[in-house]
Amino acid sequence: MTISIRPTVPADVPLLPPIEQSAGELFRTVPELAWIADGDNIPPQRHLELIAGGACWVAEAEDGSLAGFLAAQQTEDALHIWELSVRQDQQRRGIGRAMIGEAAAFAREQGLQALTLSTFVGVAWNEPMYRRLGFMVLSPEDCDARLQDILRNELAAGLHSERRCAMRMHIARVAAA
Ligand SMILES: CC(C)(COP(=O)(O)OP(=O)(O)OC[C@H]1O[C@@H](n2cnc3c(N)ncnc32)[C@H](O)[C@@H]1OP(=O)(O)O)[C@@H](O)C(=O)NCCC(=O)NCCS
Repeated sequence: MTISIRPTVPADVPLLPPIEQSAGELFRTVPELAWIADGDNIPPQRHLELIAGGACWVAEAEDGSLAGFLAAQQTEDALHIWELSVRQDQQRRGIGRAMIGEAAAFAREQGLQALTLSTFVGVAWNEPMYRRLGFMVLSPEDCDARLQDILRNELAAGLHSERRCAMRMHIARVAAA
């Protein structure tokens, strides 16, 4: 497999909602979450804001088409992943794992302590996948004010809190040679 990961540029933005839409089709396999597949995608303006922050990447497939994207935002001490989406026909090829690796390398370079995100509990390609990649679930008490806010906003947007969790991956320091 030859997949290359590069920073997202504004010219990529029109291509990102169709990728998110295609990725989300996976939720149709979970009847109570099938509505996610019909939900809104990240608006182009929001992509542009996140791209300006310098922590967004796309994965290019062998034929030059975009296979996936990761949109993140640097906070004081962590890199927060807002969305990771891989096109349906490109899933299970290691692209999601590689993009998390790219985000972790960036966070390490920036001297950040962690990657954070919020996701669905018990959905194979959400919380269990992130656990396999090195994330831990945070209990509500362990969430800082920023993550509590994110979970509160999700609840207000109709996502049942018992189905959502915040997760954190610690970024290990590399000892100087
Ligand atoms: C989550 C997502 C980005 C993963 O992308 P991907 O490129 O398919 O993931 P990878 O191939 O790197 O898989 C990494 C590991 O995650 C797990 N995994 C990924 N997709 C899975 C699935 N559909 N079912 C079960 N396990 C899965 C596996 O452990 C996999 O490793 P393996 O293939 O060696 O067993 C993709 O499924 C997607 O776009 N889903 C819809 C959007 C979404 O839920 N995004 C996350 C929001 S928090």
